[in-house]
Amino acid sequence: MEIRGKVAIVTGASSGIGRAAAVALGREGAKVVVADVDDAGGAETVRQVKDAGGEAVFVRADVSSPAGVEALFAETEQRFGGVDIVHNNAGIMTGGNPNWPDCSNAKIAAVVGVNLAGVIMGTRQAVQAMRKRGGGAVVNTASIAGLNPMPMDPIYASTKAAVILFTQSCAMLNETEQVRVNAVLPGIVDTPIIAKTGDGTAPAKWLEPALAVANMLRPEEVADAVLDYIRDDSKAGEYRVVTNPPQSA
Ligand SMILES: NC(=O)c1ccc[n+]([C@@H]2O[C@H](COP(=O)([O-])OP(=O)(O)OC[C@H]3O[C@@H](n4cnc5c(N)ncnc54)[C@H](O)[C@@H]3O)[C@@H](O)[C@H]2O)c1
Repeated sequence: MEIRGKVAIVTGASSGIGRAAAVALGREGAKVVVADVDDAGGAETVRQVKDAGGEAVFVRADVSSPAGVEALFAETEQRFGGVDIVHNNAGIMTGGNPNWPDCSNAKIAAVVGVNLAGVIMGTRQAVQAMRKRGGGAVVNTASIAGLNPMPMDPIYASTKAAVILFTQSCAMLNETEQVRVNAVLPGIVDTPIIAKTGDGTAPAKWLEPALAVANMLRPEEVADAVLDYIRDDSKAGEYRVVTNPPQSA
């Protein structure tokens, strides 16, 4: 799909990978809806998209809320007349204070709600909007955490594994709806989510060994993979691991 002139929603775009994807899409000529619960970060992303020569608006949206997702798409339709590209990227880890298995039921519901229900509802809404325009592209941010057991945050890992299978299960939407759904699976990326594994200011102790050898990705490297999936009309129901070799390799 040619990106120029298209309308794109990026969730979790007030920070990290979502911000990098929003800026990249804006630079390539898409009109970008920066969707997030963080107003200040959203305003900064809009500024960065405009600096890159693009067009963007911030829409406050909680992707774990059915009403929030519906309102996001309704506002996008009102402002831009529809949507062609959706990057379901918002995500949270279980984090400290306390971590699994002592975390609250509310925290479990939040992680499942944002990481899994948010992606499923965002995709459903995307298909309903895109069929009015003859199709579109959805990219979900999963994680390599969805490929292997993750004893220290099994809630996060299981939502990411589910996003991978959900994405693969959406392959047929390319034939039935002309909507291509794919997923990126980043390794460790240098974003604020890393500190949120701990107390919000520093990473959790359990992550330190992995961080010690990690050759962290920049969010822009993940955004490149997202844009590749948007451009490549041959890809549907697929996922791509985006990692760097460890420092010792
Ligand atoms: N950073 C990594 O190492 C890494 C690795 C693999 C996958 N990921 C995934 O990448 C995605 C982006 O994470 P990031 O690393 O950029 O983290 P980040 O914390 O920098 O950004 C996440 C964004 O999601 C937003 N968000 C949280 N809850 C929301 C909600 N209910 N509704 C809307 N927005 C909400 C946050 O406000 C934040 O702006 C996540 O899905 C994450 O799981 C990250």
